[in-house]
Amino acid sequence: MANYNFDEIVSREGTNSIKWDAREHIFGNKNVLPLWVADMDFRTPPFIVDAIKKRAEHEIYGYTFKNDSYYNAIIGWMKRRHNWEIKKGWISFSPGVVAGITYAIESFSKPGEGVVVQPPVYFPFFDSVKGTDRKMIENPLKLKNGRYYFDLKDLEKKVDSNTKILLLCNPQNPGGMVWSKNELTELAQFCLENKILILSDEIHSDLAFSGFKHTPVASLSEEIADNTVTCMAPSKTFNIAGLASSILIIPDKRKWLSYERTTGVGHLGMGNIFGSVAMEAAYTFGDEWVDEMVQYLEKNYRFLENFFKKELPEVRVMKPEGTYLVWIDFRNYGMKDKELSAFLAQEANVGLNNGAKFGSGGDGWMRINIGCPQSILQEGLERIKNAFKNL
Ligand SMILES: Cc1ncc(COP(=O)(O)O)c(C=O)c1O
Repeated sequence: MANYNFDEIVSREGTNSIKWDAREHIFGNKNVLPLWVADMDFRTPPFIVDAIKKRAEHEIYGYTFKNDSYYNAIIGWMKRRHNWEIKKGWISFSPGVVAGITYAIESFSKPGEGVVVQPPVYFPFFDSVKGTDRKMIENPLKLKNGRYYFDLKDLEKKVDSNTKILLLCNPQNPGGMVWSKNELTELAQFCLENKILILSDEIHSDLAFSGFKHTPVASLSEEIADNTVTCMAPSKTFNIAGLASSILIIPDKRKWLSYERTTGVGHLGMGNIFGSVAMEAAYTFGDEWVDEMVQYLEKNYRFLENFFKKELPEVRVMKPEGTYLVWIDFRNYGMKDKELSAFLAQEANVGLNNGAKFGSGGDGWMRINIGCPQSILQEGLERIKNAFKNL
């Protein structure tokens, strides 16, 4: 029985929304239909809005700490949703996952040391590595039968004793892989043997489609847990990225202390009141909403897949196993990078993410965001179809 209406169109214009209000600046065309940056056009669920309103009504927003009900909400969510038993003492805060990744790189490696990335991947990873003066080691994913796989043979050739961290995207953005237990075990075992810390970005963990199950890499064994730092957040799941609140889960005490030292200097651990209230509400009351929302995403994906099959069969779509991001292969049209991006923005009037930015293997692909009412997605797909038909 559906309780929530994901078909509702909520105008976001005039809210300083990067997706909607920065269109002219980003695409040079204020008329693009924005299907790019990874937030959703669904209303934030009422139990989060109510919790924020209730706290706002108090009218004093001074310094606060995070109490047991905040920690218990996180612990409960990880157990219920991911079958992962974590402890309060493993949890740290970060004002966003990219911030957490960057501070973790600072905490667990030194300038000049190697950090592995696996492109095509969420491109701010590259900035986190380069911006901290670490050496970026590229271990591209292997494309086989329309899905990406880890390439451990290539990884083996590229790492050495200077390689300290592997930055994992689990589930994967942009390909949408919900990495299997076997895939993760092989990779994690390799990292253990080579003394490489796994820094696992699991921001999309709650968005696995039916038939797929997210595995927190740290849940595989105690030994792997001690060699893993996991970033999680309710931001993608509940559409609250603007509250800039996420967590790191660090089972190894020495590593936890090291991360806390890095962020403690800047007093980053407190976060903000509304982010903490929202996280607690999300992880306490969010199960039903997420289940319905993910079903809606799957419906949107099926719509998109059928649309391209029928209307533009030259376009290939990578079948996502989760996330609200779909990776689309336009290479049959012979257009690449800026030309493809400009064609879609200027001729089709749609704003997508340029695949080339995701690194090696991404050129000729585009990433589309299907976290929106189906009528918006349909409008975007019609625009793409019409532009290519007129080519
Ligand atoms: C894999 C991944 N990590 C991190 C982020 C951003 O997280 P935050 O806004 O919390 O820094 C995104 C957003 O799209 C993402 O897809």
